[in-house]
Amino acid sequence: MLTVWCVVALLALLPPSQSANPGVKVRLTQKGLEYGRQIGVATLQSKLMSIKLPDMSGEEKVSPIGKVKYSITGMQITSLGLPTTAVGLVPETGVSLSIENAFISIHGNWKVRYMFIKDSGSFDLAVSGLTITSLITLQSDETGRPTVSNANCVARVGSVNIKLHGGASWLYNLFDSFIDQALREALENQICPRVADAVSEMNPRLKTLNVLAQVDKYAEIEYSMVATPVITKEFINFDLKGEFYNIGKHQEPPFAATPFSLLAQNTSMLYFGLSSFTVNSAGFVYNNAGILSLYITDDMIPPKSPLRLNTKTFGAFIPEIAKRFPNLMMKLLVKTSSPPNITFERDNMTLRATGTVTAYAIQTNGTLAPLFILILDASVSAQAGITGVKLAGTVALNKIGLTVGTSYVGPFQVKSLENILLLVLKVAVIPQVNVRLQQGFPLPTLGKMNLVNAQLQVQKDYMLIGTDVHFEP
Ligand SMILES: *[C@@H]1O[C@H](CO)[C@@H](O)[C@H](O)[C@H]1NC(C)=O
Ligand SMILES: *[C@@H]1O[C@H](CO)[C@@H](O)[C@H](O)[C@H]1NC(C)=O
Ligand SMILES: *[C@@H]1O[C@H](CO)[C@@H](O)[C@H](O)[C@H]1NC(C)=O
Ligand SMILES: *[C@@H]1O[C@H](CO)[C@@H](O)[C@H](O)[C@H]1NC(C)=O
Repeated sequence: MLTVWCVVALLALLPPSQSANPGVKVRLTQKGLEYGRQIGVATLQSKLMSIKLPDMSGEEKVSPIGKVKYSITGMQITSLGLPTTAVGLVPETGVSLSIENAFISIHGNWKVRYMFIKDSGSFDLAVSGLTITSLITLQSDETGRPTVSNANCVARVGSVNIKLHGGASWLYNLFDSFIDQALREALENQICPRVADAVSEMNPRLKTLNVLAQVDKYAEIEYSMVATPVITKEFINFDLKGEFYNIGKHQEPPFAATPFSLLAQNTSMLYFGLSSFTVNSAGFVYNNAGILSLYITDDMIPPKSPLRLNTKTFGAFIPEIAKRFPNLMMKLLVKTSSPPNITFERDNMTLRATGTVTAYAIQTNGTLAPLFILILDASVSAQAGITGVKLAGTVALNKIGLTVGTSYVGPFQVKSLENILLLVLKVAVIPQVNVRLQQGFPLPTLGKMNLVNAQLQVQKDYMLIGTDVHFEP
């Protein structure tokens, strides 16, 4: 048992497999990084405000007084400014953070004793020209989520100016010669750990990446990273699995993701590229779930249509039906026989589905008598859009091809049934598909992330969504 756990633990430490092509790519641009900087700097500011400066005391020879015992207590940061902060991308490494001209105001109390004299007062310290540089590295954790850590942090205090309230002027000498350096060190030593805190506070937020996003009661999408993030001068690319699975049953489809690369764009903070593999894995999953089928009954046909789902209508084309099943209502079963397949061309999303249409006569005792089975090859064009943090869509019928699979009512010309089947697909099947597609599919997101100004374009082999983001606090 123990060995099993050791192996599991070891496997968990291995980097994710580099071999699988991603189904979804997410790109963070400079603009996205800039938004991240604003959030990060606010966090860092409050972290730095919480720096606690230790009390200091000692005994030093100060001219012109001689031996002086001093203590500095109750130091509090009263204000802190980070006016100049910048983040940049360091290819293959991470994100550089640089802070210049930062300033800190500190208030505290001083006390001295020399000869038989005790004196005390307060002081204000102005720390200025503070610089902080750090590197934030980016990795994939064992769950396929990104994690960040802080490396190579350096903090330097520029100058420290003290203003004493009360006391004699020689106290400035005491400060300049003995206290100044200790204070700088105390500050400098505490800054990088706070930067590290602020950076690691991003990790709980990154842990909210929906690596397994539930879609509905049948399907979930896996959005874990399949490789370590790729960092270039212009962007960070995250390769995600982007694959639909039946809930709790992760069976691989008989096709694999093929490589694709995102168009160079940088006007939005974030880009999502969804490959045809992702959409086709959805088709595979829903087809396996056995839900890509629908019974069509006459009540689903608009009342004003002269074409009804009955043996009179069909009997006009296939006389055998009118003869053997007079005056009966009919029912059609439309179902896919293999998963639908999407093709992305520039500005064009086309979905092909093959399936069957089985026609039944509903006999007076309720029994269904099969009449014929048609093989249907349908091409639909798809439109997609973003609602909230979901991708939603609609489809419209392009064209259909029909052939006779089986006939229980003798030979007939399938062409004659084309119009009534087109009507059935248009008024009964496509609207149902669209109801489902409008419910949408979750995109990879972090916590309370909203998409702002999302734009969608269809490129060859993938769909590209460019968007700004806004995190609710
Ligand atoms: C976007 O890309 C263009 C062309 O590569 C470049 O000139 C521009 O500086 C970039 N903008 C940002 C915000 O990175
Ligand atoms: C989808 O259609 C394309 C082009 O027609 C074809 O190359 C591809 O193999 C099909 N994919 C699946 C999963 O059937
Ligand atoms: C979209 O592509 C399909 C084939 O992939 C083609 O039949 C159809 O005409 C195209 N539609 C447009 C509007 O270009
Ligand atoms: C229902 O009616 C049909 C035709 O009248 C008949 O062939 C069939 O056996 C009946 N089925 C049942 C279950 O009664």
